[in-house]
Amino acid sequence: AFNLRNRNFLKLLDFTPREIQHLLELSAELKKAKYSGYEQPRLTGKNIALIFEKSSTRTRCAFEVAAYDQGAKVSYLGPSGSQIGHKESMKDTARVLGRMYDGIEYRGFGQEIVEELGAYAGVPVWNGLTDEFHPTQILADFLTMQEHSRGKPLHKTTFAYLGDARNNMGNSLMVGAAKMGMDIRLVAPKTFWPEADLVAQCQDIAKHTGAKITLTDKVKEGVKGCDFLYTDVWVSMGESKDAWDERVKLMTPYQINMDIIKATGNPHVKFMHCLPAFHNDETTVGAEVAEKYNMKGLEVTEDVFESEYSIVFDEAENRMHTIKAIMVATLGD
Ligand code: CP
Ligand code: NVA
Repeated sequence: AFNLRNRNFLKLLDFTPREIQHLLELSAELKKAKYSGYEQPRLTGKNIALIFEKSSTRTRCAFEVAAYDQGAKVSYLGPSGSQIGHKESMKDTARVLGRMYDGIEYRGFGQEIVEELGAYAGVPVWNGLTDEFHPTQILADFLTMQEHSRGKPLHKTTFAYLGDARNNMGNSLMVGAAKMGMDIRLVAPKTFWPEADLVAQCQDIAKHTGAKITLTDKVKEGVKGCDFLYTDVWVSMGESKDAWDERVKLMTPYQINMDIIKATGNPHVKFMHCLPAFHNDETTVGAEVAEKYNMKGLEVTEDVFESEYSIVFDEAENRMHTIKAIMVATLGD
């Protein structure tokens, strides 16, 4: 009944709730098949280009492992070493790579760049993160929620996203929640709420799906009764380091710590994060920021990150299963 063959995967706004549900079901199937040792390769002989204009651990590895599991081969094009951006436009790059590859992943800056790639490549293009959206991450998050919801379907799930709600994660979680009929609270300083246009678009979708979208700067109210609490870095890739000063000051009240976990009133609440996370001072940037502001964890504290509430590594694993589903659905035989 569902045919996603040859479709691009650029943003969730382009997909119906049933199509998203189908991708989640396919992800679960592929995960089970891999665990049982009976995975059937459906991408044999396919060549896939992975373009990364920003760094990545999870997304790159998820695409590579998923491709290899399914019998495809990949080429990685990093932030330097190709003609992309410096000597050749995306429109030309799209038409060149489209002649050689069967599918193309792109991580970079503006959403309009991946949209242009998708318009001219002639083969499926998958968005591996832009400034505006991170749609493959949302599939992994929703699969993870389903696995930890103790039988609650997505449309009965309530969750809060705290911190920078104006970035790719805030935007895409809002779109995903609107599509799947969920109760989402974007809990952030007013200046970090998603853009009004996108909010209006999501409220419109919510009218049809029964979703509830709340924007609030009140933390305790926002997290009350939530099944999941989600956060992300306060300064994203591509943003200026100078942003830290303002962000730390504004967003510290939105840090997920044990008080916030308790404020949900739900003993089964789970903590989520797309990763990488600043939960201690064990990374170069983490150490710098921690020293400057005298904080050990930023968007989340170490005790929450390492607690039984945390399901962040299930999310990370699910990146692979969901990205595999996207490639199989759009490219598979
Ligand atoms: N969550 C995520 O996209 O991680 P990477 O930046 O490591 O790909
Ligand atoms: N908002 C983060 C997400 C990383 C997966 C960033 O864009 O850097």
